[in-house]
Amino acid sequence: MENPFPTLVRCEELGLTPDTTGKVREIFDLGDELLLVTTDRISAYDVIMDQPVPGRGALLTQMTLAWYEHFGDSLRHHLVHADAEGLPEPFRSHADRLRGRVMLVRKARRYDIEAVVRGYLAGSGYLDYQRSGELCGHRLPQGLQLCAKLPRPIFTPATKAEEGHDENIDAEAARRIVGDEAFEAIESLSLKLYEDAVEYARGRGIIIADTKFEFGVIDGRLTLIDEMLTPDSSRYWDAERYEPGREQDSMDKQLLRNHLSSLDWDKTPPPPRLDEEILERTAQAYVAIFRRLFPERARECGY
Ligand SMILES: Nc1ncnc2c1ncn2[C@@H]1O[C@H](COP(=O)(O)OP(=O)(O)OP(=O)(O)O)[C@@H](O)[C@H]1O
Ligand SMILES: [Mg+2]
Repeated sequence: MENPFPTLVRCEELGLTPDTTGKVREIFDLGDELLLVTTDRISAYDVIMDQPVPGRGALLTQMTLAWYEHFGDSLRHHLVHADAEGLPEPFRSHADRLRGRVMLVRKARRYDIEAVVRGYLAGSGYLDYQRSGELCGHRLPQGLQLCAKLPRPIFTPATKAEEGHDENIDAEAARRIVGDEAFEAIESLSLKLYEDAVEYARGRGIIIADTKFEFGVIDGRLTLIDEMLTPDSSRYWDAERYEPGREQDSMDKQLLRNHLSSLDWDKTPPPPRLDEEILERTAQAYVAIFRRLFPERARECGY
């Protein structure tokens, strides 16, 4: 498939040096605003692959924008615009390469917790439950299987670790970090957003098993920041294949993970060289998710 947005691995390719570089995103500090550039890099088992998944960063950005739009005015978020042509120099000169993958956002005073909501028991949630029968202070029914659906979605905040893995924390610890008032607002808004998204995705055959939001304060008000409900911040499962009691295939990264497990690679850097075919099929998986969730917007984007 022809990619509507050109691939980009590093902004350095354009002679642009970001102020912060994450695994996937590069950030430019423009004073009151930030420019978020989502590259086509992909990580698996916390190792960044040497080769990009063409168009992945644009897909993640377009999905975030589609979710912002889905919630409309009911959601206060950080986006100013996502128009590469409308960026200040020196970015505007590179609009053809930045197209589709940029978001100019208002800088927030960030709340330093990951606002995680879980509707199913996967990943670290399942591990904590197995150890203690609890998850972030929520007492759960006994005998829940791996990936079981929870009686109702629960808010399970985590720390934002600078390095290593985020750690699940209970409400008391989260309240200490953000304050009582913010905690309650973040918890109820996170649950509301998750429940609405789950309902929407269910109608399209996708289970959003869990997701992570980030929030901050802009103009004195609670505001959603960062990406929203992408397969990087959420577990997307194909509803038709869902079966509790085992690990579920994630709709986006499973091809790559399966491929990597078939290689003789110990999951530490350097990453193995990947076939073009795997990268292309992985790119297609993102397109497929986007088309399923937001068919109209996908068409408008040229997918
Ligand atoms: N409007 C905003 N104001 C302030 N910070 C923001 C805003 N939007 C996003 N951020 C921050 O920008 C960063 C996005 O970068 P990125 O996702 O690459 O880093 P990360 O989440 O720390 O790492 P990774 O996603 O690779 O695990 C996050 O730290 C996020 O909290
Ligand atoms: Mg991130």
